[in-house]
Amino acid sequence: MQQEEKEEKLLGTLGSGSYVSPESLAAEIGCTFAELEQVVSGMRRKGYEIECNPALGLRLLKDSDALCVELIRNGLQTTFVGKDIHCYATVGSTNEEAKSLGREGAPEGTTVVADEQTEGRGRFGKNWHSPQGQGIWMSVILRPSLGVERFSAISLVAAYAVSTALRDSAGVRALIKWPNDVRIGEKKVCGILAELDRDRTGRDFLVLGMGINVRQSEFDGDLADVATSVKMVTGMDVPRVPLIRKILENLERCYLRVVEEGLSEVLKEVRELCTLVGKQVVVTVGTEKISGYVQDIDDAGRLIVRTEDGRIRELHAGEANAVR
Ligand code: BTN
Repeated sequence: MQQEEKEEKLLGTLGSGSYVSPESLAAEIGCTFAELEQVVSGMRRKGYEIECNPALGLRLLKDSDALCVELIRNGLQTTFVGKDIHCYATVGSTNEEAKSLGREGAPEGTTVVADEQTEGRGRFGKNWHSPQGQGIWMSVILRPSLGVERFSAISLVAAYAVSTALRDSAGVRALIKWPNDVRIGEKKVCGILAELDRDRTGRDFLVLGMGINVRQSEFDGDLADVATSVKMVTGMDVPRVPLIRKILENLERCYLRVVEEGLSEVLKEVRELCTLVGKQVVVTVGTEKISGYVQDIDDAGRLIVRTEDGRIRELHAGEANAVR
């Protein structure tokens, strides 16, 4: 068994925070006491605080904020989202990984998480800066039985899952800017890249890629004016693992409601967190700039804009900005 697998098993057992005897740990991992010592030392080097009490056994005092499958799964209250989870130290793009798993038929809810992305992608072919240990770079495979034209509403639902998770885990008021940015104040804390693909049997599936800035203390260059992180807003190092769990739980709950009740009930709640409804905006769609008043976001997730000449435009995608 690889060292990483042993660490995962150890974390799975110590994750409850209770004391566990070295005998039980060694039996659980299937290793000798000497190997157990090596595993524990390796984890301490990674930042985990593990207490060793001669009478009571070992106990995990502090998670290191390392991302690992066992820690994320431990206490995750979902039935399918995140049940099959792939966790990487470094990956090109979690969306690319999720797409190749999806093409091979990976089940709905399969999740890919990375501590760092070297080729993180944003909307409109932009790069997504995904430095090591600073954020949540995660993609989830869904196979909605909705018409493809309604898939963009699902990415609004993902933005809602992130906004409410940030509220519940970090106490911040995060709002949704159509189509699927999550903002705190005027700055973006999360972007969502929804991509459609098809598996070998010809079934469409959706990859929802979420990039959440969590622990950055500052942003350089052009990002400084537009991006923020949970740390910059709260001053706290909010641990990523419970936040990941909360996002996955919220996503599953909202998605199941969409499957059972249809989109309109869930979108009523989503709309309450959307910043653009009732505002004058300019929406850039390709080379076209559309100015007007946002009347609504409809049940397919389209932005309904009344333009200055009184026409109604139903926009599937675009970059929208409120006009002050
Ligand atoms: C945007 O432009 O706002 C969307 C950004 C999406 C970034 C996430 S990070 C995880 C996933 N993998 C990627 O390569 N992109 C998405």
